[in-house]
Amino acid sequence: MEKENFFEEGGSGVAKRIDREDLVVKSIQGEELEASNIENKLDENDNNLNGFPKKETANTNVESSQMVMDKTQRVLYSKKNQEYWTDKKDSSLESAYAMIAPDIPLVNVEHKELFLEKCAKYYKEMEQDALGIKKIDRWDEYEIERMFGKGLNPTSLKTALNNIKYLVENISSDNDTVRVVEFGPGSGWSTLMLRNQLHKKFPNKKIELISVDKSPHSVVATQNSLDYYEIPWQTEIRDGNVETIPDKDKYVTLVLDDFVEFANKQPNNYFDGYFSSHGTAYLSEQEYEKLLASIKTNGKPGAVFVADSLDPLYTVKLDTLHLVLCSIFPSISKNMQEYTYGKSLLSNSKYFPGQEVKKLTRVHNAESELFYNWNNYLLSKLKLKYILQMLKSIRITTDVIEEYREDVYPSYLVNNLVKKEALNNWEEMKNLPECPLYITNCAFRLKK
Ligand SMILES: C[S@@+](CC[C@H](N)C(=O)[O-])C[C@H]1O[C@@H](n2cnc3c(N)ncnc32)[C@H](O)[C@@H]1O
Repeated sequence: MEKENFFEEGGSGVAKRIDREDLVVKSIQGEELEASNIENKLDENDNNLNGFPKKETANTNVESSQMVMDKTQRVLYSKKNQEYWTDKKDSSLESAYAMIAPDIPLVNVEHKELFLEKCAKYYKEMEQDALGIKKIDRWDEYEIERMFGKGLNPTSLKTALNNIKYLVENISSDNDTVRVVEFGPGSGWSTLMLRNQLHKKFPNKKIELISVDKSPHSVVATQNSLDYYEIPWQTEIRDGNVETIPDKDKYVTLVLDDFVEFANKQPNNYFDGYFSSHGTAYLSEQEYEKLLASIKTNGKPGAVFVADSLDPLYTVKLDTLHLVLCSIFPSISKNMQEYTYGKSLLSNSKYFPGQEVKKLTRVHNAESELFYNWNNYLLSKLKLKYILQMLKSIRITTDVIEEYREDVYPSYLVNNLVKKEALNNWEEMKNLPECPLYITNCAFRLKK
């Protein structure tokens, strides 16, 4: 194999040459990146720096030595970080969850603090090792905690899963590789489901899943969620053009970038699908238009775009006692009306000023049923602390709905947007999965 020279730039602004002949290649072939080997390699190269000052910060402690950066600042998963979670998992809890909420990932709530600690560590390392890492207002560590909470209850993930399945079913590719972009992995729940569904639908094809997020906090949270499930990942920090990223079929590839900027950089006719669960919803109408126009220009004929979002005209303020009652007796919820409404609010959304916002206080649908059944299982196992965390997590989810809905550009407005002349290659698709009232989805196929 030909030797390549890579330059790593550190926070201190110095650059050093590291010889990566087999550092990265080994891991690409699925072998473990041995911390000690990498440290030795780095030490060796430190002695060959021909005039470059020795770098003090990056790759000096054990954890960061497992991450290897190249000149475009790529971070690779380490097997050690993934194995960290192995003995912490509770297989009986996971199998019970898989029966109640099939295809939805579970992270044990008892690991919440550990998970957040690991995220903080990854973030610190990224900040130290890569240039220009800065927190993004709103999508910061506080948000990671809230996004982590979302994964603790299956309700909102079920909607994302339905939309993911719809996307995957509608992808048709004659190539040996299926290529999909996810916009806004958040803390990685949708990424995990998307990755699993793609592998399930296309067992004999190579899969390239590229998840793009501008928030380093979200990227490290997704790294961590992938670690938890022992899924190899690589993170591209600088150059979001996928042509420059190697071995995308070996890893889930995370790209730190803005959605529109990422879309503009991509090669022609490359991706088969685009997915976003509550990600592109935070673009303004103008930005959304730019995104769809960009994909229209370089996108592949027949490519599918599926997204979901909150509906700014609904909010959810659930009655806790009722939640507890349905958790004790899940079957009673089956005979109850789907939605009960509280006192409406007035919208401050720039898209719907002054319009009525309906408040839901009780919800009985396929999504809430999962929550009730899961709580019921936890009750039967006397996991009371766990249930309290679940109730807290559903409260966080409903708080987020209330806080965010005003900013959201809902999926049904995207249906109007694509009617514009400039976007008219996007054809609206039919038979989308039904969402709960407070969520809305959209799907389009690119006709060229
Ligand atoms: C609510 S979270 C997504 C949650 C995740 N998809 C899930 O279903 O759990 C939205 C994510 O989109 C990212 N995001 C929002 N606007 C963005 C933009 N213009 N470019 C890149 N990332 C963006 C945020 O950083 C955040 O991580």
